[in-house]
Amino acid sequence: MDLSRRIEAAMVSAIERAQAAGPARLAHALNYAVVPGGARIRPTICLSVAIACGDDRPALADAAAAALEIIHCASLVHDDLPAFDNADFRRGKPTVHLAYSEPLAVLTGDALIIAAFETVARAASDESPADALRALSLTRLLAHHAGMPHGICAGQGWESEKTVDLRAYHRSKTAALFMAATKMGAAASGQDPEPWEELGARIGEAFQVADDLRDALYDADTLGKPVGQDVALARPSAVQELGVQGAIRRLRDILSGAIASIPSCPGEAQLAAMVRLHAERMTPVAPVRT
Ligand code: IPE
Ligand code: IPE
Ligand code: MG
Ligand code: MG
Repeated sequence: MDLSRRIEAAMVSAIERAQAAGPARLAHALNYAVVPGGARIRPTICLSVAIACGDDRPALADAAAAALEIIHCASLVHDDLPAFDNADFRRGKPTVHLAYSEPLAVLTGDALIIAAFETVARAASDESPADALRALSLTRLLAHHAGMPHGICAGQGWESEKTVDLRAYHRSKTAALFMAATKMGAAASGQDPEPWEELGARIGEAFQVADDLRDALYDADTLGKPVGQDVALARPSAVQELGVQGAIRRLRDILSGAIASIPSCPGEAQLAAMVRLHAERMTPVAPVRT
């Protein structure tokens, strides 16, 4: 099965379990927040690393990938709320609070976060203590990279501070889930996750710099979400700190180290090719907006 089929199938089963016979509007909003998806880059990286490490427990890798993407979708629902970025559309359609109401958007984010943890917890098979240990490791990694003090919550929290260290802000707001992606992929396949952190950190840092460039250079129709937000909301960004050319140089510097950081594993060559492909896609070529 190709990666995107594995990801979508794992996500459908996690979301259907959360919907069941629950309140209809909230159940509908859960699906609205995750389907159709965006680039699904975090679960793609997670499964690619799991495969590079042997993928001897595909059910664990699928659960890890789905949990990561569900947490990511939850973070977007909360990020778009009026209390945060007050965004009107996401992935080309109205944001959850506009389509369903603010209370339902808060609950959608909450329910998705819980569904993500349930997904990895359920991957602990009763018959295999070894699988249960792997699932426990996945749970810890997900918590570490989603919460405080190092995860997405910390990242969003930096926006309420007077002075912000751009790299620390990006590392927790965005790179945290990419670190979770590489580390959870390795852990799902029974490998030590720690050597995989650097690869995730580098891809994640590059990804946020690329997102800042897109926010400054592209138009809303191309991105399916509002642009010019970093300036409008006075958010620290790589473009504001380094200028467009400086940010592009920073992006290239970070990515050049990413491939070199891939730990030795059976699928190292294919993984390097995948990272190279994503690096090319990430780098803005022709600015649409000036
Ligand atoms: C957007 O992430 C939020 C950031 C961390 C910059 P993505 O660009 O991965 O969003 P989707 O999932 O593809 O819509
Ligand atoms: C969203 O960051 C990142 C998280 C939800 C943690 P941004 O606010 O910079 O991303 P977009 O532009 O809304 O996707
Ligand atoms: Mg934001
Ligand atoms: Mg935002």
